[in-house]
Amino acid sequence: MAFAHKHFISTKVLSREDIDLILTTAQSFKEINQRDIKKVPTLRGKSIINLFYENSTRTRTSFELAGKRMSADTINITSASSSVTKGETLEDTAKNIEAMDADIIVMRHPASGAPDYLAKRLSRCAVINAGDGAHEHPSQAMLDLMTIKEHKGTLEGLTVAIIGDIARSRVARSDLYALRTMGATVRLAGPATMLPPGLDKLGAEVYTDINAAIKDADVIIMLRIQLEREGGSKLLPTKREYAQFFALNPGNLKLAKPDAIIMHPGPLNRGVEISSYVADGKQSVILEQVENGVAVRMALLYLLAGGNDA
Ligand code: NCD
Repeated sequence: MAFAHKHFISTKVLSREDIDLILTTAQSFKEINQRDIKKVPTLRGKSIINLFYENSTRTRTSFELAGKRMSADTINITSASSSVTKGETLEDTAKNIEAMDADIIVMRHPASGAPDYLAKRLSRCAVINAGDGAHEHPSQAMLDLMTIKEHKGTLEGLTVAIIGDIARSRVARSDLYALRTMGATVRLAGPATMLPPGLDKLGAEVYTDINAAIKDADVIIMLRIQLEREGGSKLLPTKREYAQFFALNPGNLKLAKPDAIIMHPGPLNRGVEISSYVADGKQSVILEQVENGVAVRMALLYLLAGGNDA
């Protein structure tokens, strides 16, 4: 089956079939990552440019590894080392990259909508959104769904609690759309200042009491407070107070189903949104998410580069 989209910008537009195809393809690539020699010729001759205007550890590294493991030529450009510092616009930068016959641009940008803006202006290159402002982070959602499905066998009928700075979390938004499409119940929880209006209209259950959100959940996804985003520091009195009411710890974790899994997109702020005891405990699958991140990004590069028979 061919992937139905030229670009990968948002999980809002993905159908059940699209998500199933990404997850099945990722599962088949995961096996390559566990081999001694982690390299296949699948994308030989393809060029992938990672264009990162915002900091990243996991996402950039895993897109780079994903491309390299499939033998694509992978180049990283960060805003600090590019001509952005000389005043070049985003569109000009991207058109120049396209003129070099790149096949895929993977972009992270602090402005919501930047990858979509580019996708509409480039004629040949596919664009992957690796996180745009507080808007979406669709590849993170796919690795989250893959990890959940591996543990629970299905996504349909599960209760997933996503807790923290919902207002500024691109992960929460992408997870919400994809999980709803796959038939999961999604609870979004945080202090009232971090819960924007209208979440219920997107199909979420909204909670200001973390205990109520955790109760009987199958999956708990904890989020970092996005202090770097506009207004981030104004939404909470102190980190200590936040931790007291909104951190996941061994006490409130007991309210979830006994086999609940704990997830976090990283980077962790230990002692703020999650206690170390929980982050490193036996219900935590945080490092499995990172492992699956490489396989999911291999699948996305493969499907957008024209592969369709994994
Ligand atoms: C997230 C991001 O950058 O949106 N991290 C990630 O990609 N793994 C979440 C965060 O920064 O808190």
